Amino acid sequence: MELVIGNEAELANLVANEFSKTLQRKPDAVFGLATGSSPLRIYDELALRVKSGAISFSKASAFTLDEYVGLPEGHPESYRQVIQRDFLGKVDFQADNVKSLNGTAADLEKECLDYESAIDASGGVDLQILGIGSNGHIAFNEPGSSFSSSTGIRLLSPQTRQDNSRFFGGDLDAVPKYCMTQGLGTIMKARKIVLVANGLNKAEAISQLVEGPISSFWPATILQHHPDTTVFIDEEAASKLTMADFYKYSAANQWPAK
Ligand code: GLP
Repeated sequence: MELVIGNEAELANLVANEFSKTLQRKPDAVFGLATGSSPLRIYDELALRVKSGAISFSKASAFTLDEYVGLPEGHPESYRQVIQRDFLGKVDFQADNVKSLNGTAADLEKECLDYESAIDASGGVDLQILGIGSNGHIAFNEPGSSFSSSTGIRLLSPQTRQDNSRFFGGDLDAVPKYCMTQGLGTIMKARKIVLVANGLNKAEAISQLVEGPISSFWPATILQHHPDTTVFIDEEAASKLTMADFYKYSAANQWPAK
């Protein structure tokens, strides 16, 4: 796992570079997209690059990570609407090339199975962007999730519902109890993963992710086993790392030496 510590603008630029490199190498790449506040600057940077003609998603495809169960179609906080507002509406994916879980499907279990199969049938995700919850969840894989889980229906933890109530006008009761999510096993199949986090609220989760033991109690720690993950964080999110200085030193002294 690699770690980059910087300010929001630097991080957005570096993560956007990973998208650009992927598209350069493979214009029809498959991207994994995350909702939440953490990727917003990156999505804005990517939108600028599309607008300037530097990159294009017109041949690419994408899968989103997760969805609430039961929010009516078109609800502003359904993740399909959120990703449309925050990213898809500003870039040039072909609509049919972006898949999301449908939280109102008649058969939710079948919806999850079909989604996992669709990811596999696409050839797999080339670049997955992730945020992290304050309790260490990735997508909606809460503490205790199986490391080999595939896409399925889950119960949200009280902590996550509390954290996410800010998107529902602070009304905890408005936050759905259940969700659908790519599993940890699904996410681990992505060829490359970039995880972004900022703020003090994420410092403990980042400390566990980078320096803690691998444990389903902190689900993101499974990424220590992923062959190509880079974690991009700001100083606040890095504030509980015991070796922050060494991570900065190693980021500035990548091989081959200059
Ligand atoms: C939600 C999402 C996650 C996201 C996390 C952190 O629960 N399901 O995919 O990473 O929140 O969100 P934020 O980036 O807004 O802190």
